[in-house]
Amino acid sequence: MDIQPAARHLVTIAATGRSFRCAEDSHVLAAMEQSSCRDIPVGCRNGGCGACKVRVTSGRYHTGKMNRAVISAQDEAESRVLACKTYPQGDLTVEVLGRVWQPERAAQAGFFSYVPPAAAS
Ligand code: FES
Repeated sequence: MDIQPAARHLVTIAATGRSFRCAEDSHVLAAMEQSSCRDIPVGCRNGGCGACKVRVTSGRYHTGKMNRAVISAQDEAESRVLACKTYPQGDLTVEVLGRVWQPERAAQAGFFSYVPPAAAS
């Protein structure tokens, strides 16, 4: 029995035109980190913090479970998703919406506990 490698699709960042390849069984954020592209902010890498929020402007994809504190049902219906939970099923174009990771906000959403550096010393 032959095992076929997962199809690899082109993901393009709308604002910069930079692009990278992403396999169907890999999420967009991981594929970006393996490329030279750094356009999508990276945070928890697990669908909790919202740093990697993007809007898919074209292409087909499916998503894994995303934290509703950072992606509402309406966001999802309007193609706003988390790159770390998005798997391409064809070439994608995305608009970056996320910001630099804010661990305090992720902690407030109950994703994990966080002690600010000043309080930890
Ligand atoms: S990196 Fe935190 S939600 Fe994607």
